[in-house]
Amino acid sequence: MQQDSFVIRADICYSAAPQSLELYPGGWLVCLEGQSAGVFRTLPEQYAGLPVLDYSGSLVVPGLTDLHVHAPQYAFRGQGMDLELLDWLDRYTFPEESKYASLEYADRAYRRFVEDVRRGPNTRACVFATIHRPATIRLMDLLEESGLCTMVGKVNMDRSCPETLREASAAASAQGTRDWLERIEGRYSRTHPILTPRFIPSCTDELMGELSKIQQQYGLPVQSHLSESRSEIAWVRELCPNAKSYGHAYHAFGLLGGPDCPTVMAHCVYSEGEEAALLKAQNVLVAHCPASNMNLSSGIAPVRRFLRDGLSVGLGSDVAGGTHTSIFKAMADAIQVSKLRWRLVDEALAPLTVSEAFYLGTLGGGAFFGKVGSFAPGYEFDALVIDDTRYTPQERIELETRLERTVYLSDERDIRHKFVQGRKLF
Ligand code: GUN
Ligand code: FE
Repeated sequence: MQQDSFVIRADICYSAAPQSLELYPGGWLVCLEGQSAGVFRTLPEQYAGLPVLDYSGSLVVPGLTDLHVHAPQYAFRGQGMDLELLDWLDRYTFPEESKYASLEYADRAYRRFVEDVRRGPNTRACVFATIHRPATIRLMDLLEESGLCTMVGKVNMDRSCPETLREASAAASAQGTRDWLERIEGRYSRTHPILTPRFIPSCTDELMGELSKIQQQYGLPVQSHLSESRSEIAWVRELCPNAKSYGHAYHAFGLLGGPDCPTVMAHCVYSEGEEAALLKAQNVLVAHCPASNMNLSSGIAPVRRFLRDGLSVGLGSDVAGGTHTSIFKAMADAIQVSKLRWRLVDEALAPLTVSEAFYLGTLGGGAFFGKVGSFAPGYEFDALVIDDTRYTPQERIELETRLERTVYLSDERDIRHKFVQGRKLF
């Protein structure tokens, strides 16, 4: 079924705002040429001629967005979680990512990653690859073939890592990125490049300057890491003594948001004061990665404060800091860590609700891809058909409760069908 027009009959929910769930038991969801035309309690006459996919009894929700995931780390997830960020990078991550110099290794590992995401609940993702151009292009080919919609970055790094993963110079790193962009031009319809300086400690000022030129020339979005752990932040303070904050170190090169540079920054666990104000002013999308922040003992991001103060926030799996790609899992984790933060750190910042976590994983993160993450009219038609009978009793139960249980209990076994931009993947 290619970008068809059709109607789905099911128990439908989507998020209209953090505190606002739209619930349509036995509703009708209309897809017109890849876009939602809305959800209705009775099917409007004008759509009566469209084919109906009768998923009565199943739950239908928008596809989820993973705002931050490292594809090459999928192969070693669940390992080295006794370390904190910088040691974990040195001991596990950099050696593993060095292996992607081999296209053969990359192909095998990336196939497993892509198949996991294809079968799971995410329909969109912002993906880090490695510094290697052929492997990155192979990853993009596989993602394009999967039917998922993604942004993928060839990573830039020219300092503070083993030689096997260090690009020879700032100029070589920038040239590698230009070559990559030229090689993929016109190659994909749903797989897009995103500029990916790994983080400030991996990129010299000279490289950041080059990347800024590339960003402007190609009009690329940007993804990176920000204020994830205390030792990382202290390191950035040493590297950039003149920057008011870690965020300002990116901003100095024009690589932190604004109207011409859509940016997603992972973590922001310690963003406050002027840095948080800058994220808001530049409309940077914060990728909250609760599982990773637990595993690497980084901390708990103040998502309640971000939402209260009007920052844009979505969710990331941050595999392999996180162990699971599912953004349902990230929703549950986000709620759980927010409760610990509330109880142990700041009782003025209430825990997240299920409705808020569902918003973050759908509409909140989807915004980075345009009109994505909702069934309101005009949104791109990404949908999951979930059979929740495995974990939900057969007797009548409120739709909102079924959604809550799906957030906590569902896995890929329960996803019966998946649509991206109106196209049925399975
Ligand atoms: N900061 C720089 N690189 C990484 C990475 O691969 N994972 C995480 N969690 N943080 C990073
Ligand atoms: Fe990361």
